[in-house]
Amino acid sequence: MIKALFPGSFDPVTNGHMSIIKRSAKLFDILFVAVMVNPAKKSLFSPEKRLKMLKECCKDISNVIVISFDGLLVDLAKEKGVGIIIKGVRNSLDFESEIQQAQANSILFEGIETLLMPSSAQDIAISSTLVKQIALFGGDVTPFVPKIVADKLQNNK
Ligand code: PNS
Repeated sequence: MIKALFPGSFDPVTNGHMSIIKRSAKLFDILFVAVMVNPAKKSLFSPEKRLKMLKECCKDISNVIVISFDGLLVDLAKEKGVGIIIKGVRNSLDFESEIQQAQANSILFEGIETLLMPSSAQDIAISSTLVKQIALFGGDVTPFVPKIVADKLQNNK
């Protein structure tokens, strides 16, 4: 049984994340999707709210297990017995950051592999940060996020 792990802040989950989740779920027997803490980012939604939204968005994908974890990614991978980390990549900025994280993670946990999945063309411009900005100024976020997330953003969480 091949298991993979797709970690992220998911603050909030976007259509770009959902596309990576759906594509990855077809490639592995089990895909863990983990709400993690990125110390470099200030979050809008609490980890509990992010987890709840993500669970709702993934409820129809049978081999996806949504979890949350406050710690090192490699420790979660060890705990779940996962040897593959999936990351979505939109552009060269993402690529540089992901390569650095992949290398650090492979030093921390020998044998762990990070697979980088290019975003779909329609998702290149989507980021949680942009979506939060659009919502902050009263813009329409429905093209960028699942409906339940748009509702949460537009009703001020
Ligand atoms: O969606 P993001 O913010 O790009 O996700 C980044 C995330 C949460 C995957 C990364 O910050 C992470 O792995 N955090 C857990 C702590 C950790 O292991 N940090 C070292 C990574 S080399």
